[in-house]
Amino acid sequence: MSALRITYYSADFDEATWIPGLQAALPGAAVSLWQPGAPTADYAVVWKPPQQMLDEQRDVRALFNTGAGVDALMALRLPEGVPVIRLDDAGMSVQMAEYVCHAVIRHFREFEGYEADMAQGKWSFRKPRSRLDYPVGVLGLGVLGERVAKAVAQFDFPVNGWSRSPKALEGVQCFHGAAQLHDFLAASRIVVCLLPLTPETDSILNARTLAHIRPGGYLVNVARGAHVVDADLLAAIDSGHLAGATLDVFRVEPLPKGHAFWTHPKITITPHTSARTLRAESIAQIARKIAALQRGQSVAGLVDAGRGY
Ligand code: NAP
Ligand code: GLV
Repeated sequence: MSALRITYYSADFDEATWIPGLQAALPGAAVSLWQPGAPTADYAVVWKPPQQMLDEQRDVRALFNTGAGVDALMALRLPEGVPVIRLDDAGMSVQMAEYVCHAVIRHFREFEGYEADMAQGKWSFRKPRSRLDYPVGVLGLGVLGERVAKAVAQFDFPVNGWSRSPKALEGVQCFHGAAQLHDFLAASRIVVCLLPLTPETDSILNARTLAHIRPGGYLVNVARGAHVVDADLLAAIDSGHLAGATLDVFRVEPLPKGHAFWTHPKITITPHTSARTLRAESIAQIARKIAALQRGQSVAGLVDAGRGY
C-alpha cells in the first residue's frame, strides 16, 4: 500500500517546522510543501491557501484548516464535497479566556487609569465599581465563546451569551437568534465578540447595534476585524456612549499606519494574538483526526459550508 500523501501550505506559519512536525506525527505518510502543479495528495493542511491550490487538489479526502476561523477558506472556491475541518480548541480556548478576562478586569478595575496615575507619582483611589453594573455579554458561544463566558463568570460578573441556536449554560443568561440580539446587547455593558465571520455576522457591530449596548459600555473584539464598522465604533466612543475598546483583530492586518485605532486614547490594540495556533497541539490534533478518518470514523470540527463556520 502506498504512503498517505499530505500536502501543506500556509500563508503565515513556518513550513520549516510544520512539515517535520506533521511528518513526525504521521510516520507512515509523505508530507510535503504544496507547489503549483504538485500531484493530488490524500489530505491538505492549509492556512489561507491560494485558489490555485484548491483548484489543483480537488481529490483530497479532507482539508484541514490550521486555525479556528475558516472565513479565509470560505471566501475561496472549495473542491466540491471535500470536508473542511477546523482546529477544535487545540489550546486556543485557554488563551482566549486569559486574554478576555484580562481585558474585562483591566477595564472594570480601571488599571489603565491607575497605571497613568502611578507613572505621574500620583497615589490615587477610585471608587470601587459594582460588578452588577458591568454585565459581560459574549457574542458567540462556540468552542471559544463558551470557555470565555464560563471564565468571566468565575469572577462573579453577570454573564450573557448570544448564539445562533438556543443554549443552556450554567451561570450564563443565554440569548439566541437575530430576534434576541437587541435584548442581549441591552443587557450587556462589556461586549466580547467571538463570532465567526460569515455573511450574517459581517459588520454586525455597527452604529445601530453599538447604540443598544448599555451606556458607558466597552467592546472587546477578538474574532475578526470585519465584525466591526470602524467609523461607527470611533463615533460611539467619541460621543461618550462607549467608554472604550480592546481590539485584537482588524479589517486590514497589519493595521495600516495612520489608522485612528493606533493612537486613540480609549482604544487598546494587540496584533491578532489573543489565541495563537499552537504548533504541537495543532499537529497532534490534525494527526489524530487523519488517523480517525482513515479508520472511517467521524471527527469533531467539521465545518458546515452552508452556514460558513
Ligand atoms: P465556533 O465554535 O464555530 O462558534 C461560533 C459561535 O458563534 C457559535 O456559538 C455559533 O452559534 C455562533 N454564531 C455563528 N453565527 C451566528 C449568528 N449568525 N448569530 C448568532 N450566533 C452565531 O467558533 P470558535 O472556535 O468559538 O471561534 C470563534 C471565532 O473566533 C473564529 O471563527 C475566529 O474568527 C475567531 N478566532 C480569533 C482568534 C484570535 O487570535 N483573535 C483565534 C481563534 C479564533 P451556534 O452555537 O448556535 O452554532
Ligand atoms: C485565528 O484567528 C484563528 O481563527 O485561528
